[in-house]
Amino acid sequence: MSLLVFLFCFSLLLGVNTKPYDEDAPSCGYDACPVADPSVLNVHLVPHSHDDVGWLKTVDQYYFQDVQNVISSVIVALKLNPERRFVQVETAFFKKWWEQQKDSIKQDVINLVNNGQFEIINGGWSMNDEAAVLYQFTIDQYTIGLRYLEDTLGACSRPRVCWQIDPFGHSREQASISAQLGFDSIFFGRLDYRDKINRLGKKTGDLIWRGSSNLGNSSDIFTSVLYNQYSAPPGFCFDIVCDDDPIIDDEESPDYNYQKRVENFASFVKEQASKYPTNNIIVVMGDDFRYQAALNSYINTDRLIKGFELFPQTFQGKPIKLLYSTPSCYTKAVNDYVTANDYKLEIKTDDFFPLSDGPVNYWGGFLTSRPASKRFIREGNNLLQVAKQLAAVGQESYDNPGLNSLKEAMGVMQHHDAITGTELMDVAHDYHRLLYKSLSSANDAVDLILS
Ligand SMILES: *[C@@H]1O[C@H](CO)[C@@H](O)[C@H](O)[C@H]1NC(C)=O
Ligand SMILES: [Zn+2]
Repeated sequence: MSLLVFLFCFSLLLGVNTKPYDEDAPSCGYDACPVADPSVLNVHLVPHSHDDVGWLKTVDQYYFQDVQNVISSVIVALKLNPERRFVQVETAFFKKWWEQQKDSIKQDVINLVNNGQFEIINGGWSMNDEAAVLYQFTIDQYTIGLRYLEDTLGACSRPRVCWQIDPFGHSREQASISAQLGFDSIFFGRLDYRDKINRLGKKTGDLIWRGSSNLGNSSDIFTSVLYNQYSAPPGFCFDIVCDDDPIIDDEESPDYNYQKRVENFASFVKEQASKYPTNNIIVVMGDDFRYQAALNSYINTDRLIKGFELFPQTFQGKPIKLLYSTPSCYTKAVNDYVTANDYKLEIKTDDFFPLSDGPVNYWGGFLTSRPASKRFIREGNNLLQVAKQLAAVGQESYDNPGLNSLKEAMGVMQHHDAITGTELMDVAHDYHRLLYKSLSSANDAVDLILS
């Protein structure tokens, strides 16, 4: 009896302690989206940074040289203006960053997650490849990422968007898994170049993808093909790693370029809008490892948004409005349009494979390159499945550190520059070091469970 009371009080306490943000009810999710206006062309600007979990540098080199600057500077910039938004993707990096922060910064992040400004999308440990993986690898790498986010940041961090912007073609199994994991949409940048031209011509870059013939329409997921892969419009990178001109709004300055820059952006937007079906388009503002000095990007983007009010632009007679947004808010806006106008999106049922991005330019080598790595990862999976089952039978904690290290290493290995073999040789060696080390600790954990 007393034990029960104790357990009850203890769980109450835990409930209070783990509740991330106590003030008002969080307003994350679709409720936090900017409202798309049906009478204008809504341009959803999405600030993002594509942070490969290893490629030309190792995971740790990217973290310490680039990614820690991205997340830290974004948090500062978001706090300065509640309109600003950012989408955070790779949980392997987010965990490294989170563990180095002091409590007040952690609280800032939780607040920004709860008001929708810092939105987690994808949320897997990495952005997995879709061709060289097995379905189990994909499920496991999402499981560990999503679980970490939920435990660390609470329910508002649960992603609704599968953000597969860089993998080299896309499998219907990914669509099926995404739908079953509870995602509402998939975005990507790479597909056969002829398919893309065709889709833009027919305005079918926004579509419904049915991932599984067994599951039928319960595996349907809204899918959007990004217009400019995953890069900002040419000339509009304001990060310190670029040298595009800033937007200069001081009329006294000899370098004044405000109206011209607004018109440049508008011509890109109009071209894109003519190829998509609704009065919404998504324009990503980012690229690889951007936002290292985030304030620079946000100041210029703030100015760009205001510029469209000062120098009004139109598309097919409708005003063009720029807004800070996210892929999930774009999904909502398209869905609202489709529902209101009874518009039928195309339904697709097969893969986006193989990937060809130009004549005689097929991405086929990565299916077999670095075969020793590919085998090593399969061995890692064997041990991981054995260990997970033994841990369950032996009633081990889910958070067994020996198993966690293998889960995390396997999450890294599913990255689209790891299992594919597209990384540099030094980076491949580092991946092998990481996997070898975690296999050793997982073996020790298995021994302990069995003993
Ligand atoms: C989904 O499929 C079921 C069974 O075929 C059908 O009854 C239902 O109307 C479909 N739902 C939609 C939204 O198309
Ligand atoms: Zn990438």
